[in-house]
Amino acid sequence: MSTSRRDFLGAGAAAAAGLLVGSTLEAQRAAPVVARAQLAGRPTVMGSGNGIRGVARAYDQVMRGTDPLDAIIAGVNIQELDPEDQSVGLGGLPNEEGVVQLDASCMHGPSKRAGAVGCLEDIATPSLVAKAVMDYTDHTLLVGKGAKKFALAMGFREQNLLTEKSRQDWLRWKSRLNKDDFWLDHDDDVKVKFTSGTINMNAVNAAGDLSSVTTTSGYSWKLDGRLGDSPIPGAGQYCDNTVGAAGSTGRGEACIKVCGAFHIVEQMRNGATPEQAVMRTMERMVAMTEPRLLDEKGRPRFGLQFYALAKDGRTAAATLYEGARYAVCDDKGPRLLDCAYMYRRADMPRGAW
Ligand code: GLY
Repeated sequence: MSTSRRDFLGAGAAAAAGLLVGSTLEAQRAAPVVARAQLAGRPTVMGSGNGIRGVARAYDQVMRGTDPLDAIIAGVNIQELDPEDQSVGLGGLPNEEGVVQLDASCMHGPSKRAGAVGCLEDIATPSLVAKAVMDYTDHTLLVGKGAKKFALAMGFREQNLLTEKSRQDWLRWKSRLNKDDFWLDHDDDVKVKFTSGTINMNAVNAAGDLSSVTTTSGYSWKLDGRLGDSPIPGAGQYCDNTVGAAGSTGRGEACIKVCGAFHIVEQMRNGATPEQAVMRTMERMVAMTEPRLLDEKGRPRFGLQFYALAKDGRTAAATLYEGARYAVCDDKGPRLLDCAYMYRRADMPRGAW
């Protein structure tokens, strides 16, 4: 694992501030926050690699003075409204009954508010509905029929989210479930798709104000009513305006058990660099994985990524298996950077997904 010079200097500055303000418990608690506040002011947008177009749009908006949460929601809307993206929003792969059910959550650092929706049907932009829950209700999470009723009342447009491509993929999956059922298999050479794809995005503006959002169609072929980590503030995304923001993509069941995004932010609160924070959370997640999901060497048979943005604009991401990249946009423009990783790609267990 590498520690960049910038990370090292950031941690050093926080430690130095701790020494200067004295040794009472109160002072020690305040120290890192003081240091971070001094470092704030480098606008940055970052998140999962599929958000490379979105981080550019969001950064542009942040630089024009748009609120960071509105900016990153505009960023993830690109994926949500893209019918070719089968992991988020319109065109997402459906559940086992052929119904597209969407999840999203968001947090707004300056106002300390959060909103979320789960199992939302027929509305292409769950991130915006999550923000409407945050803006217009005293609740944090609405699910299922209630979430849709709320969205319609708020003026969101109802539409069929199951594209022809995703419907064909669902039928292909269904026909292969059981060779003894009454569905005939076709296209024997075509692989049945599976996705746990998701998009997470986090931003900090020049004032040091932070926000986070995560949106997904969840696992393809999931059980009706399944929620992953994305609609859960503290799991799929989390933001604390004094520290940083974080998020997750991949196997939500694994992230939920370690409160992934919250754990990352808490690590940074306690002085970890973004890279240390995501790697420690990954280690905790592996330690909390049940044996049936591990290979003989204790390596998970699934994929999971964590993303971290510190208040001062430092970023990092971690993936279980080497090869994933994450998206960043700052004054150097949009680009993909390598995620830190736990295991080499060559060591990925056979059949891992
Ligand atoms: N991380 C997305 C999901 O598990 O649904």
